[in-house]
Amino acid sequence: MKTKTPPLPLIIITHTLPEDWMISLTDRVRAVTGPLDATRLAAGLEAHLAEAEGLFCLLTIPVQKALLDRMPRLRVISNMAAGVDNVDVAECTRRGIPVGNTPGALTDATADLTMALLLSAARQLPESAQDAREGRWKTWSPGGWLGADLRDATLGIVGMGKIGRAVAERAHGFGMRIVFCDPSAGADGRPPLPDAKLLSFDQLLRMSDFVSLHCPLTPETRGLMDGSALGRMKPTAILINAARGPIVDTVSLTRALTEGQIAGAALDVTDPEPLPSDHPLYKMPNCLIVPHIGSATHGTRRKMAEMACENLLAGLEGRKLPYCVNPEVYEP
Ligand code: DGY
Repeated sequence: MKTKTPPLPLIIITHTLPEDWMISLTDRVRAVTGPLDATRLAAGLEAHLAEAEGLFCLLTIPVQKALLDRMPRLRVISNMAAGVDNVDVAECTRRGIPVGNTPGALTDATADLTMALLLSAARQLPESAQDAREGRWKTWSPGGWLGADLRDATLGIVGMGKIGRAVAERAHGFGMRIVFCDPSAGADGRPPLPDAKLLSFDQLLRMSDFVSLHCPLTPETRGLMDGSALGRMKPTAILINAARGPIVDTVSLTRALTEGQIAGAALDVTDPEPLPSDHPLYKMPNCLIVPHIGSATHGTRRKMAEMACENLLAGLEGRKLPYCVNPEVYEP
C-alpha cells in the first residue's frame, strides 16, 4: 500500500532573495515570494495569507494584528533582522506564534559602518570629496577641511548591547574615551567593558564629543533624541544613528543642525525611512545620510538569511527556534 506524503507547508517570503542564501528551504517548503524591492506586502501574496504556515519577512514589513488575523494557520514568523520593532511580538506571543530574528550576525558589519559614519562625519569626507571632484581643491590648504580629532575624544554609546560593545572595542583602538548608558549593561552575560564608564543619559549627552545610538526601538527609546536631548549635547558634538530612525526626532534634529545646537549628524537610519528626497536634511553639509546599510556586506546578509531560514524550518517542524525573541511561547 502506498503511504501518502503530506504536502509541504506553504510559506510566504515577502521579498525575493538570492537563491543560494535560501538553499536550506529546498524541498522542505512550498514558497510564494514577493518582489525584491517590495515596500509593503506585495498584492500577489495576499491570496496566500489564509493558507500560509510560515512567514519570512524583512524589517520593512509591519506584522501587526490586522495581518495576523488574516493568517489563521501561521505557526512561525522569521524576521531577517536583529531588530523586531516591525513585529507586534506581544500579539504573536498571545497567539502562541514564535518570532525569530538574527542576533549577532550583523554585529561586526554594523559596528564597522558606525565607525565609517563617525570617521566620515568627523573628517568631513563627503564634503571634501565633493570639493575635490568639483574643482575646489586648488592647493594643500593648512586651514581647509579641518575636522575633529578622535584620540582623547569622548564617545558616548547609548545602548551597550552586542553592537554597542563592538563599537566601543573599535573606538578604543582609535584612542577614544568610552562612556555609555544602558540600564541593562552586562545583561548579555558578558561583563561591562573595563575601559568604558557608565553614566546617566544626561551626563553622557553633556560630556560626549560623539553620541552613537545602539539601543533597540521600544516605546521608551522612541523619540529619545528629542529637542531637549539634542540641546544638552555639546555644540561641537556629532550624533551617529545606526540603530533605528524613530529614536531620533527628525524635526528636532533638523532644527538642531540648522541652528548649530550640534555640529553634525551621520545617519544610517531615518524617520520616516527613507526620507522624502526633498527633505532639508539632505541639503545640509553637516548631515550625512546613507540608506540603512549597517548590515550590508555579502557575508552578513547571507548569514542573516541563513539564520532566518533555520528559524523558519524549526518553527514549521515544531522545534524551538534557535534565535527566538519570545521564548515564553514554549512555556507551559
Ligand atoms: C537589523 O537587523 O535590525 C538591521 O537594522 C538590519 O540592517
